Amino acid sequence: MSKRVLITGATGYIGSHTIVELIKAGYEVTGVDNFSNSSPAVLEGIAKIVGKEIDFVETDCTDYENFAKVFEKYPDIGAAIHFAASKAVGESVEKPLLYYRNNLGSLINLIELMRTKAAGANIVFSSSCTVYGQPGPEHLPLTEQAPIQPAHSPYGKTKQMCEDILRDSVHAYGNVNVTSLRYFNPIGAHPTALIGELPNGVPQNLVPYITQTAAGIRECLNVFGDDYNTPDGSCIRDYIYVCDLARAHVKAVDRLLEKGERFEVFNLGTGKGLSVLELIHAFIKATGRDLPYKIVGRRAGDVEQVWANPSKANEILGWKAETPIEDVLRSAWRWQQNCC
Ligand code: UFG
Repeated sequence: MSKRVLITGATGYIGSHTIVELIKAGYEVTGVDNFSNSSPAVLEGIAKIVGKEIDFVETDCTDYENFAKVFEKYPDIGAAIHFAASKAVGESVEKPLLYYRNNLGSLINLIELMRTKAAGANIVFSSSCTVYGQPGPEHLPLTEQAPIQPAHSPYGKTKQMCEDILRDSVHAYGNVNVTSLRYFNPIGAHPTALIGELPNGVPQNLVPYITQTAAGIRECLNVFGDDYNTPDGSCIRDYIYVCDLARAHVKAVDRLLEKGERFEVFNLGTGKGLSVLELIHAFIKATGRDLPYKIVGRRAGDVEQVWANPSKANEILGWKAETPIEDVLRSAWRWQQNCC
């Protein structure tokens, strides 16, 4: 079986870290991206880390004709990891058609090309714990058996719909195998600080906002609500180190190529929930930086608390997220100092 893996969204945050881990594990990689939310400079960062340039084609996965050329150039693609997608929750509410077109269109093209033109139709899908909505307390920590609930945004709906499209494709086409990885909250950057998360404009996510505030780019961090039904009143999330998450993708590809399981789902988190206030204090402790913050009102659409039960991934993939949170936050801070 071929060891070449196609990575869509190759220059994005999780895609770039995953490429590094795949190459370390001995895989050949072909990356594609249209740079709609990333830059070619990421390819240089990857090359410095792995010591060689990766095979890369600039293309938009929604453009079938052009995307198909990648498969002509690399007929030995045996698996794909599909990261390419629009991912801002707020933007998806304002521009739902953009989200449906990009996220569904690119996946449909990928499945069609993988099943008809690739050496093996093994697909790892970049999904999200957003598919569970706000789980009832009886479902925490979340296993893969927790009910899928109505999504809060078009972005969340595309993740649910993509999983349905994949499930139906597995059912209909005998050669398609799929692993869907439901991420919790990925944070941090590669230890070299050569790649990391590059938010466009004002960051929406907590950790980039924290590091930009510590760097003096933002005046003060807003904590969205301290009146939730949690021990300190702020929201709880399961923050997972992006390099640990990247390694889970290698395990998922290994398993697909070895076992060819038809359709599997894994929750990828640490198994530990941290509140916003706990994360802020962990950052201050880890970096020794000042972090001005104030409590403001709740952010619309936020779920109160969610964290993973990662036992299935621990046992079946033989993978565990184990990097201590202080190390993760230090990596985010190093990246902040290096990136801009
Ligand atoms: N938060 C703040 N201040 C900020 C930014 C965030 O207090 O400036 C809080 C949020 O209210 C939330 C927590 O920090 O309680 C985490 O917020 P993020 O925006 O970092 O992450 P979310 O959990 O809201 O969203 C993330 C991804 C989504 C994905 C979702 C799945 O960004 O793409 O997880 O649950 F859908």
